[in-house]
Amino acid sequence: MPLVTTTEMFKKAYDGGYAVGAFNVNNMEIVQGITEAAGELKSPVILQVSKGARAYANHTYLVKMVEAAVAENPEIPIALHLDHGDSFELCKSCIDGGFTSVMIDMSSKPFEENIAITKQVVEYAHDHGAVVEAELGTLAGVEDEVVVEAGNESYTKPEEVEEFVSRTGCDSLAIAIGTSHGAYKFTPEQCTRNEEGILVPPPLRFDVLDEVVKKLPGFPIVLHGSSSVPQEFVKMVNQYGGNMPDAIGIPEEQLRKAAQSAVCKINIDSDIRLAMTAVIRQYMTEHPDHFDPRQYLKPARQAVKDMVSRKIVNVLGSDNKI
Ligand code: G3H
Ligand code: 13P
Ligand code: ZN
Repeated sequence: MPLVTTTEMFKKAYDGGYAVGAFNVNNMEIVQGITEAAGELKSPVILQVSKGARAYANHTYLVKMVEAAVAENPEIPIALHLDHGDSFELCKSCIDGGFTSVMIDMSSKPFEENIAITKQVVEYAHDHGAVVEAELGTLAGVEDEVVVEAGNESYTKPEEVEEFVSRTGCDSLAIAIGTSHGAYKFTPEQCTRNEEGILVPPPLRFDVLDEVVKKLPGFPIVLHGSSSVPQEFVKMVNQYGGNMPDAIGIPEEQLRKAAQSAVCKINIDSDIRLAMTAVIRQYMTEHPDHFDPRQYLKPARQAVKDMVSRKIVNVLGSDNKI
């Protein structure tokens, strides 16, 4: 099948109590690792491209690689989405260039400005067969050039969501309930410690999510910043010459619970970066004489596939949902 929008995916996910994974793509190995996992597990998938990815790999290369993945995996629904679009012009350029979905992220702007720009993107997108994700509330962490220190995030206000969605006409809404971008989601001061002294992050604000769902029944909700930063990979990075002290993510069981609710799209990028880096570090250490990039990119691609498979089965519940 050709690239699809997220409309049908989200409807099935909402009704079926699972979520679709949205994984960031930056190069061929990442595209291949994600789509091989989704293909084997018969899972719908969203491939998303940030402004930074577009600057790194070039729009045309990314679209062509995604088109190749679609051709190689004709059975599974694949959407191509712009992650954190920061202007109407960027969204328009992606829609004109073959994306089926865009995010306009005006979450750092005042409410009325967020509405005005989101509405403009929605009108253009809907006229051109694409769908739009918008955002209310701000996450902590790093996304493109924007850095929000942990503790300075602000949760979505449930009392704003109904007016925002009806005035903008957006197709899905990203909300802030305590997730955060990057591999350092919480400071040690924000966490508690378990009996073994391991940091335990603060729980997600499911009460905020529940209030949002009450105001927007049946409407697809999106969670950004949903990497779990599995500690075995942090350990591997550190064991093989890296230095990622206090890296911490969102526990997988909390995301699983979110996926069973109105959350239809869960964004994961950092865990893919972490898995690739851990495996490449190990490979380089164990094979100091190797210099053919295929030698270390092959296990890195496998690590992407394994990580995405783990997410599809353990977190999203989207296997066998095509
Ligand atoms: O939310 C941000 C995503 O992880 C993309 O990151 O802007 O470094 O490509 P990037
Ligand atoms: P992570 O940094 O938690 O992987 O989040 C990615 C994301 O939200 C992309 O938009
Ligand atoms: Zn994000």
